Amino acid sequence: MSDVLHTLHVDLHASSQDRSYPISIGHGFVGSASFWSSLISDRGVVLVTDDCVGPLYGASLKAALGDVSQFTEVVLPAGEAHKDLASIHTILDAALADKHERGSLFVALGGGVVGDMTGFAAACFLRGADFVQVPTTLLAQVDSSVGGKTGVNHAMGKNLIGAFHQPRHVVIDLETLASLPDREFAAGLAEVIKYGLIRDAAFFSWLIENVQRLKARDTEALAFAIERSCRIKAEVVAEDEREGGVRAHLNFGHTFGHAIERLQGYGVWLHGEAVAAGMVIASRLSVDRGALSPAVADQLESFNRAVGLPVAVPPEISTADLLNAMGSDKKVAAGKVRYILLRELGDAVVTEEVTEADITRVINA
Ligand SMILES: NC(=O)c1ccc[n+]([C@@H]2O[C@H](COP(=O)([O-])OP(=O)(O)OC[C@H]3O[C@@H](n4cnc5c(N)ncnc54)[C@H](O)[C@@H]3O)[C@@H](O)[C@H]2O)c1
Repeated sequence: MSDVLHTLHVDLHASSQDRSYPISIGHGFVGSASFWSSLISDRGVVLVTDDCVGPLYGASLKAALGDVSQFTEVVLPAGEAHKDLASIHTILDAALADKHERGSLFVALGGGVVGDMTGFAAACFLRGADFVQVPTTLLAQVDSSVGGKTGVNHAMGKNLIGAFHQPRHVVIDLETLASLPDREFAAGLAEVIKYGLIRDAAFFSWLIENVQRLKARDTEALAFAIERSCRIKAEVVAEDEREGGVRAHLNFGHTFGHAIERLQGYGVWLHGEAVAAGMVIASRLSVDRGALSPAVADQLESFNRAVGLPVAVPPEISTADLLNAMGSDKKVAAGKVRYILLRELGDAVVTEEVTEADITRVINA
């Protein structure tokens, strides 16, 4: 039995083809035969997962799918290191070997790595097959599964090969979070609080007040935080699907975060951890410009500490190295670093008017 708590919609009517889709948030979707039979009808299924999530939830999902007309399962090795074109080949080889047609549905069961790769494989398969996201990390549930950015890494950098390809449905089963390690869970909370900072002051305050409930994975608090995060992501994507404007606000803290990840070597800190430290710097810069109340930056730091997220650049990284690494970020436009700062709580802005001296002052304050 599944229990639907919220259904949201990502509205993408603007183009000739309606690519809008629902986000279902609730309990028990993964193992619900009735849920999947309405979603699949008589299509073939290419299920993609990894060797950590597959053993946890794959059997339950397969049982719920029942006797689909054609079924292929691809289990990839878990982790960012395998988010590459070789894995895309593995998925496509399996789908082609089993003679799937364009009408088959790709199903991504896993975190952001599986979701990004399944979406990209679906985009490439016979020039575009449908796919469904079943995100199982908090980060994937509130961020990567919504919005249609798909792709893989290249030796030259992260996410350099990819496509915009929107899913047909995002299926968020809160029960999958029970097995998520604490560190991965906290990394997802960094993206959650980002939404409050850039777009929803009341949500930010709610997160600050409810941090202990969230940390304890209180179901009701989590459902609310995920619903609110997905609603904001869906709004932003509907406004700016291809990141020509407001979608860039979602990169709050990421310019610093990416630089930290690159300098440390990928995988030392999780992406969400690096973003958490980056958001503290971006908030302090916003305070420095007289825009943001210092109390908000203090609250963000307290939130991070409470859930076990960093509040500063790791000591082994010098400010000079950080500034240098930011200059080579792929999001640099026309040679200028673009910063996402806050005009006030809940209101982000893109600016190039930040000097290296500003950053140095804030980091060393
Ligand atoms: N497409 C987008 O818009 C977008 C946005 C943000 C991030 N991303 C991408 O998302 C990826 C990061 O995603 P992630 O943080 O989910 O990492 P991930 O997919 O690597 O998952 C983290 C680890 O947790 C395991 N795991 C997943 N669900 C689990 C569960 N329920 N229980 C136990 N273990 C579980 C995974 O097997 C993996 O080992 C990056 O590649 C990033 O580039 C994409």
